[in-house]
Amino acid sequence: MREERYLTFALGKGRLASKTLELLERIGITCEEMKDKSSRKLIFVNEELRLKFFLAKGPDIPTYVEYGAADIGVVGSDTIMEENRRIYEVLDLGFGKCRMCVCGREDAAELLRHHEMIRVATKYPNIAKDYFFNKKHQTVDIIKLNGSIELGPIVGLSDVIVDIVETGSTLRENGLQVLEEVCPLSARMIVNQVSMQMETERIRSLIGQIRELL
Ligand code: PRP
Repeated sequence: MREERYLTFALGKGRLASKTLELLERIGITCEEMKDKSSRKLIFVNEELRLKFFLAKGPDIPTYVEYGAADIGVVGSDTIMEENRRIYEVLDLGFGKCRMCVCGREDAAELLRHHEMIRVATKYPNIAKDYFFNKKHQTVDIIKLNGSIELGPIVGLSDVIVDIVETGSTLRENGLQVLEEVCPLSARMIVNQVSMQMETERIRSLIGQIRELL
């Protein structure tokens, strides 16, 4: 009999990866090697189930899946929206829940209300553009940052930020607040479009088993 080909999973490093591994474990998919936090290994194999796993930076997950370097990926819906890749989004995994928000000091609310030409710092320029230009019809200046976005209004780089709010503690501890909500977010499973046709049964069965747990 011909050996089944490997199905490859790309997981975003960090919280989402651990949650995903927990979920996979509950349907009998394990990858012991991957739990070793001290390992610098990048790719892990479960020979028996013909599965491979690798960890990558969140924003790169849709890229690996679009090009077929991974058949399946798990990533936040923020990244899916921002990257806008040709992939199938097949399942809302229900964890990693948070919100994309416009945040700033209390007095910035006035600038938003009057559609002023404001500066917006964000790690998500495409989401910010879509929100301000297409939904709010407000012209703003978008400044791309790569992390610690909350610094924007504190050091005077920007009037507001567009960023993820989970518990809200980063905002509180820095004297900022949510001014507008852009959209709710959660972890999603994504699939390569060709893999979905070629491995329909295996992928459908996997989705079905996970869905039963949600
Ligand atoms: C994210 C996000 C906020 C924070 C929100 O940052 O950009 O800063 O988490 O979480 P909270 O509402 O629970 O405080 P992350 O920790 O990913 O790091 P970063 O600032 O480098 O992007």
